[in-house]
Amino acid sequence: MKEEQPSSRRSFIKKLTTATAAVAAGSSLVAAESQAKSFSIIKRLVGNSPNDQVNIALIGAGGMGTQDTITALQTPGIKLVAACDLYDGRLKDAKTRWGADLYTTRVYKEILNRKDIDAVIVGTPDHWHQQISVDAMHAGKHVYCEKPMVHAISEGPAVIKAQKDTGMVFQVGSQGVSSLGNEKAHELLKAGAIGELNYAEGFWARRNPLEVWQYPIPEDASPETVDWETYISNTKKRPFDQKRFFRWRNYTDYGTGMAGDLFVHLFSSLHFITDSVGPNKIYASGGLRFWNDGREVPDVLLGTFDYPKTQAHPAFNLSLRCNFVDGTSGTTYLKLVGSEGSMDITWDKVTLKRNKVMDSDDPFYLDKLKKAGSGYAERKRMLPPEEITYDAEKGYKGGPYDHMVNFFTAIRNKGKVTEDAVFGYRAAAPALLCNDSYYNNSPMFWDPEKMQLIKK
Ligand SMILES: NC(=O)c1ccc[n+]([C@@H]2O[C@H](COP(=O)([O-])OP(=O)(O)OC[C@H]3O[C@@H](n4cnc5c(N)ncnc54)[C@H](O)[C@@H]3O)[C@@H](O)[C@H]2O)c1
Repeated sequence: MKEEQPSSRRSFIKKLTTATAAVAAGSSLVAAESQAKSFSIIKRLVGNSPNDQVNIALIGAGGMGTQDTITALQTPGIKLVAACDLYDGRLKDAKTRWGADLYTTRVYKEILNRKDIDAVIVGTPDHWHQQISVDAMHAGKHVYCEKPMVHAISEGPAVIKAQKDTGMVFQVGSQGVSSLGNEKAHELLKAGAIGELNYAEGFWARRNPLEVWQYPIPEDASPETVDWETYISNTKKRPFDQKRFFRWRNYTDYGTGMAGDLFVHLFSSLHFITDSVGPNKIYASGGLRFWNDGREVPDVLLGTFDYPKTQAHPAFNLSLRCNFVDGTSGTTYLKLVGSEGSMDITWDKVTLKRNKVMDSDDPFYLDKLKKAGSGYAERKRMLPPEEITYDAEKGYKGGPYDHMVNFFTAIRNKGKVTEDAVFGYRAAAPALLCNDSYYNNSPMFWDPEKMQLIKK
């Protein structure tokens, strides 16, 4: 069957074959040798005046909230005014890190009532994202909310509505979306570098106890140092349980399992790169194989997702895997596969692999063929490179930095962010439905355009 050849794809192939011909002409190297290329500087950093100070506060001053704040403070013109957490140890740490005069509180509404705060970073466990984000936007604060945007499918529309009603900037924290690596992959896919997309896959391998959510519990953890009643006030009532507080990812009342924690990053990147709105069928399987530490979530999870054809892309399938008992450990990747090649994508690198066989529309080959007559086709040809690696320029500050810059630039310029509430919901929903599929032992159906669950 003859495949469509969009003009962008022709031009990518032309550029590639021209570059290959130039390499081949200048040296005797085989054309299949890999080439390294640098990304160009991103234009979006313009408009970020350091004179235009933005005052921020941190709500949920744990591991990621602290990291987000450190990154935010590396961008120009940002001042941290206050921090909120339900564990006193975190508030003490915040003062040690950022100064004794930092205002600290256990009550996030005190932060929202302050007039001198422009934006908040929400770094709480997942079950608090929706409520704090909605309250913050209604209090006139811009919000950087950690992923996944919501803890349950039912919570998404309220965040979208709050953003729409208040006009505040709201950005979800899947930093990869702002990275050079994702941007380059988007550009390459659009240019036809891998032909027609038909499959994507992502994988995490972990083994180390700290990486699989067996976090240390502070020695002073007690109902005196932890505001347990507030922590559980929007979910099931239980007596104080330090594991449920400090290892919240293992429990469904607070966390969203492997899918909400990890798959969501890949949905965000994938949707950005492909301009997709999401899958319409979601199926998961897995099990609890090893970490029998009281956790309610699986430690091996496989998800498969059907993406229907849209104007932006052909129909394709996605396979995501996460294994917390992987003896090899430490691997994460996102791969897109098309009819003519594949791309391995990270935040600062894209490795493009292409079919070995030269495309029939290579201008040099076609020209030679035309001039030489019919016998020429028997002759061996120069082949284009099999692999091209695009690396970010040295000194690149990375996706997390770019993501913060995009957030503050949107605040200063009254602009928009890519990973807004609609985008965040479309990334969170398939992850949450993956959990539903696992627990219900059945496929889940979703209308990604209307963002609605489909009952079959
Ligand atoms: N973007 C990323 O790469 C990335 C990486 C890690 C975590 N995260 C996300 O960041 C969030 C936090 O994860 P973490 O690893 O930092 O967890 P953490 O346990 O280290 O931090 C969470 C903090 O929130 C506090 N907290 C709980 N409920 C609160 C409330 N109602 N008000 C104020 N503070 C509250 C806790 O005391 C704790 O200090 C999660 O949603 C997680 O998915 C994102």
